[in-house]
Amino acid sequence: MAGAEHFPEFRYERLLDNLSTAVLVFDDHFRLHYLNPAGEVLLATSASRARGKAIQELINNADAVTEQLSTVMESGYVINHRSCRLALPDQRSLIVNCTHTPINLPGQRNGVMLELRKVDHHLRIEQEQQLIAQQEATHELLRGLAHEIKNPLGGLRGAAQLLEQEIADAALKEYTQIIIGEADRLQNLMDRMLGPNDIPNMQSTNIHVILERVRELVRVERDGRLAIQQDYDPSLPDIQADPDLLLQALLNIVRNAAQALEGTGEITLRTRVQRKFNIGNRLHRLVACIEIIDNGPGIDEDLREKIFYPMITTRSEGTGLGLSIAQSLISRHQGLIECSSKPGKTVFTILLPLDSKQ
Ligand SMILES: Nc1ncnc2c1ncn2[C@@H]1O[C@H](COP(=O)(O)OP(=O)(O)OP(=O)(O)O)[C@@H](O)[C@H]1O
Ligand SMILES: [Mg+2]
Repeated sequence: MAGAEHFPEFRYERLLDNLSTAVLVFDDHFRLHYLNPAGEVLLATSASRARGKAIQELINNADAVTEQLSTVMESGYVINHRSCRLALPDQRSLIVNCTHTPINLPGQRNGVMLELRKVDHHLRIEQEQQLIAQQEATHELLRGLAHEIKNPLGGLRGAAQLLEQEIADAALKEYTQIIIGEADRLQNLMDRMLGPNDIPNMQSTNIHVILERVRELVRVERDGRLAIQQDYDPSLPDIQADPDLLLQALLNIVRNAAQALEGTGEITLRTRVQRKFNIGNRLHRLVACIEIIDNGPGIDEDLREKIFYPMITTRSEGTGLGLSIAQSLISRHQGLIECSSKPGKTVFTILLPLDSKQ
């Protein structure tokens, strides 16, 4: 075979090993013939232990699935079933979409390949993709708007300066000073909206070094009165990232937590490595998971949906840009920020792929 000559070492089983979908292959006696790693995770068992087991030993309510397997084997057709409930021996219950495909096993035996996709997992991916698309669209809109405002603003400020040189009356100069001051304030806001323009300076970056800098900066801002705990995973490898952009994103989130606590409470910075994890619709082999946890009042449910949009703020001195900028900086690293919140526990989770080629 020509393909085999070009890729002599490629083994197609490896594709199944890397799928995020659980794949189970049953023989004509409904005994397990093969289980991929995603299947091991779903059933919480190892392939070597599960192999050869009858389907009833793997799934408590196996009657419906057994019936579907025999229908597929007899008819030779592919069958899809949506939202099936599987009861597992460890008392877990899963809702899955299943696809049954007839296949031939070695020795001319009939078999069925069963693909199981957890429904909640699916929903999460759809929601994440929607979130990323929405945020990209609003950010583009905002950048366009900021750009349009910046030009006339420069003209306005320049004219006020010229005017100031022409007038001798100090009382009138106060007015031009107000115009210049307000134009500068607006200019700053527009610069924040436009965000950093440079191409990210990607380099091998230690996330814990960045987190320690953020910790120090926020502690100083709060006069050292705020308790910020570390719960770091020492096995977290370095990441290809722009350290300045990462610092800015993390600072925005930790600052929010510090502001929400209003002087009383605790922040925890937690890092973990996740294996085989989806960000949007891409499965990554390794993902860095950074959590910023505070025990403050939490975010109201109706506000939670909107906090990543620009200009959404509950603070009188806030611009509502902090989280929108953080999300945009993290997505420049192919990552994502998620938030879950209830009174007493707010968690911002930053997911960054550790295996993407940039
Ligand atoms: N840890 C948190 N606990 C409670 N509320 C939070 C937390 N983080 C964010 N929020 C809410 O989300 C809103 C938006 O945050 P964001 O950082 O985007 O803007 P901001 O902090 O109001 O203003 P800026 O960051 O631009 O100064 C905040 O006003 C606050 O209501
Ligand atoms: Mg903020």
